Amino acid sequence: MEIKHFLQFKDLNGAEFEYLFERTRWIKSQFKQYIPFHPLHDRTLVMIFEKASTRTRLSFEAGMHQLGGSAIYLNTRDSQLGRGEPVEDAAQVISRMSDLVMIRTFEQEIIERFAANSRVPVINGLTNEYHPCQILADIFTFIEHRGSIKGKTVAWIGDSNNVCNTWLQAAEVLDFNVHVSTPPGYEVEPERAGLYGTDHYEEFQDPMDAARGADLVTTDVWTSMGFEAENAERMKAFADWQVDADMMRVAAKDALFMHCLPAHRGEEVAADVIDGPHSVVWDEAENRLHAQKALMEYLMLGRVKE
Ligand code: CP
Ligand code: NVA
Repeated sequence: MEIKHFLQFKDLNGAEFEYLFERTRWIKSQFKQYIPFHPLHDRTLVMIFEKASTRTRLSFEAGMHQLGGSAIYLNTRDSQLGRGEPVEDAAQVISRMSDLVMIRTFEQEIIERFAANSRVPVINGLTNEYHPCQILADIFTFIEHRGSIKGKTVAWIGDSNNVCNTWLQAAEVLDFNVHVSTPPGYEVEPERAGLYGTDHYEEFQDPMDAARGADLVTTDVWTSMGFEAENAERMKAFADWQVDADMMRVAAKDALFMHCLPAHRGEEVAADVIDGPHSVVWDEAENRLHAQKALMEYLMLGRVKE
């Protein structure tokens, strides 16, 4: 069987996402009823972290246990990964001792090289370029609250980072629109975002115009991991790109607010928005668990139910 990786959102197609969203719903409902579900009994997930994490580690580790398997955590500080072992060699070895690998790292190129040398499926747990597991969970959360995302408008306010790039790819795969507003100098780079074209997103100079009428308003930190040296400069450049109550007022009446977390209240989002009635950030975080369980099952076992 050909190995299926999830290195960026467009690695799966619309039909596969439809299946995953349905499967996530079912897996979540079993979990909520305390019904044991162990399709990955005896399987091992290796999680490699080159950057910090709370949600990604927790959701993959807990998720793998709940599916009947076990998870091993490796980081660059106390493994040979931080001491210059070639990524190709690490991939050969790690994938001979495990059934599935999740990696959080810097350049996308690192995870691509790992996957090219892996005998088992590899999942992107965040790179500088993409965060596909996040958007898998975010879209599932949108569907739970509002139904299909097809034809809807998502407003992205702030940095054109890994999470933004993934929303843009998802818009192409699942046929919705993204209205993006970034400060000058931080615009979307279509090639880096891995886009086929530009027909699913539109850029706005004024963040209020991007938010106007949107079904979902979302943002992320002004300084992503790995870009800390630019922090002071970014604080100034992004000051007018905060999602606040005025911005939510011009969005659709029933607009949702999402943030992948961790959030900085008073920077990219005002406290009364993230803690207010439009916000679904806790459902969004929880759904990482359920969506990734469906993803792990799919990459390892394929479609188990039509
Ligand atoms: N949203 C997200 O990936 O969170 P962590 O950095 O805590 O994993
Ligand atoms: N864009 C953020 C997301 C953290 C989950 C980062 O890369 O640091």
